[in-house]
Amino acid sequence: MSSTSTTLTAATVGKAALATLVGLAAYYNDRAIFDENRKGIPYQPGLPIVGNLPLLIEHKDQIHDMFLEAYHRYNVLTLTFSVLGVPRQILTLDPQNVEYVLKNNFESYIKGPAFHGAMNDLFGDGIFNANGDEWKYQRKTASHIFNVKNFRNQFTDVFVEEIHYMMDNIWDKAVETQTPVDFHEIMFKFTLDSFILLGFGVHLNALGTKGVVPFAEAFDSAQRTTFQRFITPVWGVTEFVAQLFQPWKTSMNSHLRVVDDFARNVTEQRREQLKNGEVHKDLLSRFMEASNAQGEPLSNDELRDIVLNFVIAGRDTTAQALSWTFYMLMSHPRVEAKLLDEINANITEESLADSAKLYEAIKDMKYAHAVFYEVLRHYPSVPLNQKYALQDDVLPDGTPVRKGDHILWCPYAQGRVEAIWGPDAKQFKPERWINEKGELKRESQGKWPAFHGGPRTCLGQHLATLEALVGIIFLVRKYKFSLVPGQDITYQVSLTLPMKNGMKVMVEKR
Ligand code: HEM
Repeated sequence: MSSTSTTLTAATVGKAALATLVGLAAYYNDRAIFDENRKGIPYQPGLPIVGNLPLLIEHKDQIHDMFLEAYHRYNVLTLTFSVLGVPRQILTLDPQNVEYVLKNNFESYIKGPAFHGAMNDLFGDGIFNANGDEWKYQRKTASHIFNVKNFRNQFTDVFVEEIHYMMDNIWDKAVETQTPVDFHEIMFKFTLDSFILLGFGVHLNALGTKGVVPFAEAFDSAQRTTFQRFITPVWGVTEFVAQLFQPWKTSMNSHLRVVDDFARNVTEQRREQLKNGEVHKDLLSRFMEASNAQGEPLSNDELRDIVLNFVIAGRDTTAQALSWTFYMLMSHPRVEAKLLDEINANITEESLADSAKLYEAIKDMKYAHAVFYEVLRHYPSVPLNQKYALQDDVLPDGTPVRKGDHILWCPYAQGRVEAIWGPDAKQFKPERWINEKGELKRESQGKWPAFHGGPRTCLGQHLATLEALVGIIFLVRKYKFSLVPGQDITYQVSLTLPMKNGMKVMVEKR
């Protein structure tokens, strides 16, 4: 072929491609290519062909606020987004829809293939990433440890022991030296030590370690990458390219190696202990004695997944909730003073020295519970979540759902919406959790899904509440914390809700 005819052919192909692109852009003028126009659902219009991808990229560091803004902009509780490369997402903040998906029609909504794919490297087939029989046996096995006897004695003892260590070695020293301390980092160490001890019988002593704990650092980075996979089309390619062009950055695989080693060491150590005749009755031993969904003893891979799933459940969520609680207390002195009054009225030296008495005293502390629930309304440890529709359906507000749609709900945005919580939704007001008779009020799981809802409601909610309240009581009673000025206290976009830059505090004794 002559060079003139080659040029002509190339020009023709180029023109045809351009015409096709223009045609596609005209047809998919406000949404991602090949995404249908969905009737009956308000939607956030996007750019031709890429849809809401630029919006997602622009808000990638404040994604939970992006959902809140969408509600304010369109004044609707349910709307859909169309993002190039991401399956159809329907966002709903409507409590009746959320309750329906989590509870009333539980069987029709599962953790879908996209969820499993993004989570698989880090969480494998552990409880957070499992459906059906795989999920059921783990839930049943784990549920045995959450009984009142364990709460009253063993769990409270562990929290008190770790708190004493923290006070003696960190806060008392910070008072003496008048140096700022990262409160967030200390809470992560506290909940890590506590949970690793009560769940797996290992004394990790993160609280006694200066600076970062390698396992924790790798685990946090792996979680951030896992979350990015939810909002990054073709994440397999982007991660590969990032590694190619930034080889000095620690890769997901290196982080995974560190967390894998940690989880496998925990199990191996236990196998050794069992060989030596030791008897354990904790979470790990329950799983080591249990059978999996196929009726077989759990393999090392399955135990690795279980350990890591329970670490995110037991460490991150509660550490974050404690950090946001102290942030709110420091910025709301009225609430702090009222909480201190309740602590002084209910907690005696005697109850501080006796776990069973402390446990009973905490149960009666309504204001402390209200503070904790109100914090989780503003800063839910799982701020955004999704389920996958197994079949066509209609949500209670009339929204049509198609098989394969993803239903997103955002507890972070829900907690700030006036249509749900009233005109004072954005205020920090623990009183809203106490009724006229002075009793503690619980809201429906659809309105306040901080601990999820339905059959998959958080298994550890009472454990988390106990741990947080033990922490709050001991710390508020003894110390006055204040924020180091000039910090940007904001969240890090991840699977949970960590503080992006930590939280530096100064501390004095009361
Ligand atoms: C403030 C602290 C906590 C909050 C806000 C919280 C919240 C949640 C949420 C929202 C879920 C649903 C996640 C999902 O499946 O997508 C969940 C599940 C779960 N949580 Fe918690 N959690 C907390 C602490 C804990 C603790 C301390 C444990 C201790 C073991 C725990 C154990 C679990 C387990 C095992 C599940 C999976 C339940 C299932 O799928 O059946 N959580 N939690």
